[in-house]
Amino acid sequence: EELGALHADVLAWYAREARDLPWREPGASAWGVLVSEVMLQQTPVARVLPVWRAWLRRWPTPADLAAAPAGDAVRAWGRLGYPRRALRLHAAAAALVERHGGRVPSDHAVLLALPGVGAYTAAAVAVFAHGGRHAVVDTNVRRVHARLVSGAAQPAPALSAAETALAEALLPEDDATAARWGVAVMELGALVCTARAPGCAACPVADRCAWLRAGAPPAAGPTRRT
Ligand code: ADE
Repeated sequence: EELGALHADVLAWYAREARDLPWREPGASAWGVLVSEVMLQQTPVARVLPVWRAWLRRWPTPADLAAAPAGDAVRAWGRLGYPRRALRLHAAAAALVERHGGRVPSDHAVLLALPGVGAYTAAAVAVFAHGGRHAVVDTNVRRVHARLVSGAAQPAPALSAAETALAEALLPEDDATAARWGVAVMELGALVCTARAPGCAACPVADRCAWLRAGAPPAAGPTRRT
């Protein structure tokens, strides 16, 4: 039906067009996924890539990082910005060793209890590292949902319970498919359904987009300039 066709179109686009990113490879560890998500929170992919690779080479497990001085983590963070994230990752590594035998847990609530891990990061790790069934809702995903479903140019300033419920309602029934859907929608928002100058001509779901159907009206409110 309708939702199944939407899933199929986005997933086929993802299979064709997604970037090859090392933390998405089948061999990537759950630790590598957690490190990537913390680094990607406030830093673009291109700048994260070399730092992520060096970090995982140097500290391939949480125990390796936990055994290093926190200052080494901050120095290895380099120019990613917001270096407190390096300290939080170091604290998370220590907590993983102390509470979880040095492994990255799969349960959302358990992940959420780790230092520096918020709702988004907990969902991303549960889904991308462990194939769990959660809606992964970052800025890119919120923008895709706003346009495709709600017909708005941009998402609301703050994430609402209704928006989370919508993201959950959109999940494919099959768990493995739901996990790929999460990263596929994120990638669609990063590559095509961008905040400025979206590439609607290349969008696999342009024919179903509520925002395009409404004539792609600009965002309302104080950010608008005329
Ligand atoms: N793949 C998985 N999570 C990602 C993220 N936060 N940014 C870019 N690519 C990703």
